[in-house]
Amino acid sequence: MKQADIGLIGLAVMGENLVMNMESRGFTVAVYNRTVSKVDDFVNGRAAGKRVLGCHSLSELVASLTKPRKVFMMVKAGQAVDGMIEELLPLLEDGDVLIDGGNSHFPDTIRRTAYVESKGKLYIGTGVSGGEEGALKGPSMMPGGSPAAWPHVKPIFQAICAKVEDGASCCDWVGENGAGHFVKMVHNGIEYGDMQLICEAYQLLRDVLGLSAAELHQVFKRWNETELDSYLIEITRDILAYNDADGAPIVDKILDAAGQKGTGKWTAIAALDEGVPLTLIGEAVFARSLSAMKDERVRAAEVFPREKVSFTGDREAFIEDVRQALYAAKIISYAQGYALMRAAAGTYGWNLNYGGIALMWRGGCIIRSVFLGKIKEAYERNSTLENLILDPYFQKTLQGLLPAWRNTVTAAIRHGIPAPAMTAALSYFDGYTSQRLPANLLQAQRDYFGAHTYERLDAPRGQFFHTNWTGEGGSTTANTYNA
Ligand code: 2AM
Repeated sequence: MKQADIGLIGLAVMGENLVMNMESRGFTVAVYNRTVSKVDDFVNGRAAGKRVLGCHSLSELVASLTKPRKVFMMVKAGQAVDGMIEELLPLLEDGDVLIDGGNSHFPDTIRRTAYVESKGKLYIGTGVSGGEEGALKGPSMMPGGSPAAWPHVKPIFQAICAKVEDGASCCDWVGENGAGHFVKMVHNGIEYGDMQLICEAYQLLRDVLGLSAAELHQVFKRWNETELDSYLIEITRDILAYNDADGAPIVDKILDAAGQKGTGKWTAIAALDEGVPLTLIGEAVFARSLSAMKDERVRAAEVFPREKVSFTGDREAFIEDVRQALYAAKIISYAQGYALMRAAAGTYGWNLNYGGIALMWRGGCIIRSVFLGKIKEAYERNSTLENLILDPYFQKTLQGLLPAWRNTVTAAIRHGIPAPAMTAALSYFDGYTSQRLPANLLQAQRDYFGAHTYERLDAPRGQFFHTNWTGEGGSTTANTYNA
């Protein structure tokens, strides 16, 4: 029997496209699907005449692989992955590699890596981003799991992934167990943030200046030739120019109620768990939720009719202010996302390569942009950077953008236009760069009602004080007994 370099299970569109991609790079791929008729359809259809071996059972698939065997699962995230692992483990030998390329939640990947390793096999959970087209032509790939598995899959992954202009691969080892799926999750969260920022800029220009879709198309076209050059700005530009059959812009006819599949929510939950202020992505998730309450919003809009504030300033200057506000808030979003990865690396013991992550996102995936090259350079200058905005390039850039950013947020508030992501980003910036926040009062409040104690500016850190604010309750503090 002919031997295959790798096996792939799950012939939905992402799976099929990954097979075609691997085959086009010279690899022989064995394929299997639960609904076996899809194997024949694929092998006799799209994959006819290619180095693709159709298998009608898992044992046939496993038997057709060169050792150590590499089995790529592209099945539905969740129970299907656990079921597949259970079915495959008895068929595999020690040292074989199981790969999950679906959108698994990272705690599942942490658990599965430990489980598969306990059975003597190796495990990889890899983020795959770039949608159907990416899977076919070159996705961004973020693998984590058993470090010993990486040398076995590296030649395949780095052959099929996206490349940037200088030829560098948008795939590298991320870290142990769930690190790859964690980084993929943060990627998706950042995608939520980037999209929300673009939507806020769009609404500001549409509703403050009254720009038409055709005019907005021109604006985004210009913006894509600036630091904002990215896939998401590019598709926004094209969407704004797309007309329906009657010649009117289709974007104006699409219902304003957003959907979500949950990876943005996971990112926000991870941030709450880590205690990392990931405010912009959090707002982006909530903005989708708010948008989905369409009927409620329509009723509320009748109760609170918006007074139209007319714009009196320089229109071109306002467009440029909005562009700069978008860029500034985007820098904050990535700074927050990187802070989350830093915190999680500490919690889970991952040794993350932050510059490498920027490179993986630089091409192939939805958030790909020129800007990510700047982030890579920042981490090359200092791999232990405390916060992205402290890098000299981003420090200087943000300082330059600040006046336009404040103008834009002020205009949004004055005109009654929601800009939660741009506003949250500015509040984070103002908070993060504050020597003194009002948490002195907050600590006093906590001590007043709950005897939670406080530290003092005029005493060393770690020394705790309690004030008997009311003259009752004595000197008992919340630290001295647990009720
Ligand atoms: P199917 O064609 O038999 O439905 C995306 O849904 C892919 O995951 C499909 O290839 C689908 O196979 C597969 N899949 C979903 N649930 C599965 C399960 N429990 N076991 C195996 N494959 C599954």
